[in-house]
Amino acid sequence: MLKNKKILLGVTGGIAAYKAAELTREFVKRGASVKVIMTANASKFITPLTMQTLSGNPVYTEMFSLVESPEISHISLADWADVFVIAPATANIIGKAAAGIGDDLLSTTIMAARMPVLFCPAMNSNMYAGPIVGENIGRLRRSGYRILEPESGELACGVEGAGRLPSAGEILDEVERMLTPQDLAGEKILVTAGPTREPFDPVRFITNYSSGKMGYALAEAACKRGACVLLVSGPAALTCPRGVELVGVSSAVEMKEAVMRRLQDSTVIIKAAAVADYRPAQTSGAKIKKEAGPLRLALERNPDIIAEIGRKKGRRILVGFAMETENLIGNARIKLKEKNMDLIVANDLSRPGSGFQNDTNIVKILDRRGGIEELPIMEKSAVANHILDRVLALKAREPEKKQGRAKKNVRRP
Ligand code: C5P
Repeated sequence: MLKNKKILLGVTGGIAAYKAAELTREFVKRGASVKVIMTANASKFITPLTMQTLSGNPVYTEMFSLVESPEISHISLADWADVFVIAPATANIIGKAAAGIGDDLLSTTIMAARMPVLFCPAMNSNMYAGPIVGENIGRLRRSGYRILEPESGELACGVEGAGRLPSAGEILDEVERMLTPQDLAGEKILVTAGPTREPFDPVRFITNYSSGKMGYALAEAACKRGACVLLVSGPAALTCPRGVELVGVSSAVEMKEAVMRRLQDSTVIIKAAAVADYRPAQTSGAKIKKEAGPLRLALERNPDIIAEIGRKKGRRILVGFAMETENLIGNARIKLKEKNMDLIVANDLSRPGSGFQNDTNIVKILDRRGGIEELPIMEKSAVANHILDRVLALKAREPEKKQGRAKKNVRRP
């Protein structure tokens, strides 16, 4: 996502300035070009040489310099970039930007910036909580600048509170969000992910190999594209993407309750969870002791969540997944129809690079008109964006559907 993007990074003089080095590395690792402007105070915390080495570009520190190329100015730097990140942003630069003061290269470049600008405040918690900084941040927000709230925790000055620069990963996520068209804004997307656990005693359960990666990738991609995302997840060793609301569940019955409670509120439902079809008919309250002979477990059917959504969905868009080892397309087609899905994403488990645990997937997307779209092997994040594109395309057809219905309802004289 950041590949070939041009990022201008402004570094100001706070103790968190050293973290700008890691941030630069992460930007460069993802294929972005980075140019750095440092204030005079920032250069006391971290050297321009470090930032130059990591970015692979000259570092700009002076407003009026004969040494740096004459064609480089606050205007040309502002014109060059796709996005401008000020990290860390001290109370001083926030105050200057809010008041329209341009007395060095960074503050004048901020004033000349027409691309999206992100401030990442980092300072002592009392400074951050004070009325002036709060007012200045409010003013920047109202003027269209983005602010990434600092984290709470132990600060370099030994105080506990809000003021810590968020991790490079979080800043990166925010930058990606700023560069992503918000084409899913206004949608409320419910995604299910991960396996379910069906216990038969307090320490044992039946489950499957699902890692949750596909569902989490969908939740993250939808959120970055502006949707309001609720992720109902079975047990997964993954971190909930920033900005996504997580509801953790364990069994299929719990997942069904969580999903059905929120169905009315959703515009799109994507069921990427690998729900166990069966659960032990009985759950022992005590650990089952092993005995000499075999243990027989009776299993009963779990509720088919997606089938129930299909019955109640109304005009909501429903996307399901199918995982098969045999007759993938035939079975997927039957499921699509019987469970009233709008799209089904078929996963061929027999192909390397597809299915559980992998970071990649190989899928075919089937629709209600009989279309099959075969995608090559892709990162799960790319598959997620592709599925969301298909959802958007269906949404775009809604007026067409409505018009069709309206036409049918016209009474002929
Ligand atoms: O019929 P099958 O289980 O293969 O269908 C897979 C799809 O159905 C997936 O989208 C999965 O999340 C969903 N599913 C469900 N409830 C179940 C089993 C599967 O919602 N009990």
